[in-house]
Amino acid sequence: MRLLVAHASKHGATAGIAARIAEKLTASGHDVTVRPVTDAGDPAGFGAVIVGSATYMGHWLKDAKAYIREHQESLATRPVWLFSSGPIGEAKVDKEGKDLREATAPQELPKLLASVHPREHRVFFGALDPKHLTLPERALRKLPASRELFPEGDFRDWEDIDAWAAHVAAELEQHNPL
Ligand SMILES: Cc1cc2nc3c(=O)[nH]c(=O)nc-3n(C[C@H](O)[C@H](O)[C@H](O)COP(=O)(O)O)c2cc1C
Repeated sequence: MRLLVAHASKHGATAGIAARIAEKLTASGHDVTVRPVTDAGDPAGFGAVIVGSATYMGHWLKDAKAYIREHQESLATRPVWLFSSGPIGEAKVDKEGKDLREATAPQELPKLLASVHPREHRVFFGALDPKHLTLPERALRKLPASRELFPEGDFRDWEDIDAWAAHVAAELEQHNPL
C-alpha cells in the first residue's frame, strides 16, 4: 500500500521518529513517503496516512494543525494514525503517577480526534539538544523551574516506536492483506 508519513518538527526529534516509522513500514512491504507536513501535499493518493507533530507548550506545531485542517476531508475517509513527540526526561509518570505519555497529550487532541477519526493517537518521548534551541527557548530554559521541565537529552524510545510501527503494519495487513 502507498503510505504517507507526514511530520512537523521544529528541531528534528519528531522528524527522526517519522523516519523510523517509515523505515519499519517499508520493511513490512509498503511503499512509504515520508515528508514534512509543509511539503506532504494532498493525502488523497495514499492508502493510509500517519501524521505526527512535536508538542510545544501543550500544543501541536501550527503547520501540523494547518495540515489536518486543510486535508480534513481526505484524511477522514482513509485510515489515519496520529502521533505526538513530547515528554522529555527519565521519568515515565507525572507527580500524580499518571503515564507521562497521557499527561502530555496536546490540548487540541479532542479536536484532532473529532476531525479525522484516527485509528489511534500515540505520544512518544522526544529529545532536546540545547544547541538547536531558539533564543527565546534558551531564555525559557534558564528559568529555575524550567531546568527540571526541559532536561537535555535524547529520550526517544526506539523500541516503543518500532512496536507501534509494527502494530500499524499489523492493522493495515488485517484490513488490506498485501
Ligand atoms: C520550549 C519548549 C517547550 C516544550 N513544551 C512541551 C510540552 O508542552 N509538552 C511536551 O510534551 N513536550 C514539550 N517540549 C518537549 C518537545 O516536545 C520535545 O523536545 C520534542 O521531541 C521536540 O521535537 P522536535 O525536535 O521535532 O521539535 C518542549 C520543549 C521545549 C524546548
